[in-house]
Amino acid sequence: MAEHPSRDAPVRIGIIGAGTMGHKHADIIARNGSAELVSVADPATTAFAEKYRIPHFHSHQALLDAGGVDALIVANPNSCHVTTARDCLDAGLPVLLEKPIATSYAEGAQLLRAAEATGIPILMGHHRRHHPSVKSAKELISRGDLGRLVAISGTWFTKKPDDYFDQPWRVQPGGGVMLINLVHDLDLLRHLCGEIVSVQARTSNAVRNLAVEDTASVIVEFENGALGSFIISDSVVAPWGWDQATEDDPNFPFNPTISCYRIAGTHGALELPQLAKFHHEGVSDWANPLSLSFAPKGPGDSYSNQLEHFIDVVRGVAMPHVSVSDGARSLAVIEATHRAADTGRTVLISEITDPLQVTDA
Ligand SMILES: NC(=O)c1ccc[n+]([C@@H]2O[C@H](COP(=O)([O-])OP(=O)(O)OC[C@H]3O[C@@H](n4cnc5c(N)ncnc54)[C@H](O)[C@@H]3O)[C@@H](O)[C@H]2O)c1
Repeated sequence: MAEHPSRDAPVRIGIIGAGTMGHKHADIIARNGSAELVSVADPATTAFAEKYRIPHFHSHQALLDAGGVDALIVANPNSCHVTTARDCLDAGLPVLLEKPIATSYAEGAQLLRAAEATGIPILMGHHRRHHPSVKSAKELISRGDLGRLVAISGTWFTKKPDDYFDQPWRVQPGGGVMLINLVHDLDLLRHLCGEIVSVQARTSNAVRNLAVEDTASVIVEFENGALGSFIISDSVVAPWGWDQATEDDPNFPFNPTISCYRIAGTHGALELPQLAKFHHEGVSDWANPLSLSFAPKGPGDSYSNQLEHFIDVVRGVAMPHVSVSDGARSLAVIEATHRAADTGRTVLISEITDPLQVTDA
């Protein structure tokens, strides 16, 4: 790996993939005094380079060959993630890799091995883990404030515009609401509530009639014995989901009154992202009114906190908060969810991560 960049100069970042997320990252970089956007690679458009007045390359390899970058943000289509990230590792450069890590767990596991072999850090772009509410929730749950986790529920409902589906990769296997969106929610539930060990699921494409699902309903079992259910749809007119409940994405009208996750344990419950905590004072039974308090949260937002952390990773003062291993495991959960929906049976995550294992599930 190249030497860590000096703390006195901004970290020089190249972006690979100049679409929606490429612009998002560029805007976050522009607001951060410790990072500088220096180049972009995209085979289809030069408008991004013109907007940010930076050199444009038609391929990520040409950008890497030109040098002059300390790190890359990879925001190209899902199917390009592994080859692009491997080329960045070969160039000795740290990567912030958009989710999902790959389009299959097997491919993600190859990247995991490559990253481990080089020791070059990859931060997975599961940006929600950097949200201040998530940090507080994680501390509160780990401290045992909710008691033993028992029941978890979550929702992500929205109506994507029809032209969202003009991008071919979004409507082919490798796209779909589970790989593009549900992977964030299940990654976050893994982070907050513990490892997911099995899933059951039903999916539907009845509204959009695409090759990929627009709606999915999932039951998850956590290693600690808790059960969860999550329902997601990109084809409904409804307010409940992370993106409307937070200000992460300005494209979504913010609604501070709605929540997206409810995490309940033997001593209390937590509603996110508001950090509303419910518990009983005294006797704990349903006849006793619940006390409500709001846990404090830290500063920042998901994307600027993620970039701050990535800068620390590039400078060698932090290890990735969301590792390649996390990215691969979250993808394995999505792959298991697809298999569960296809077969109608309960699928163990270990069937994906350890396919040689014999199971009678
Ligand atoms: N973190 C999040 O919340 C979040 C949100 C949306 C999308 N994403 C992820 O970000 C990635 C990009 O999504 P998007 O919505 O910006 O897609 P997009 O279609 O808007 O943009 C992708 C861009 O990549 C370019 N591209 C295609 N092949 C390329 C290649 N080989 N090298 C470089 N560029 C290439 C395309 O020309 C396009 O400009 C996807 O992996 C997606 O899953 C993450």
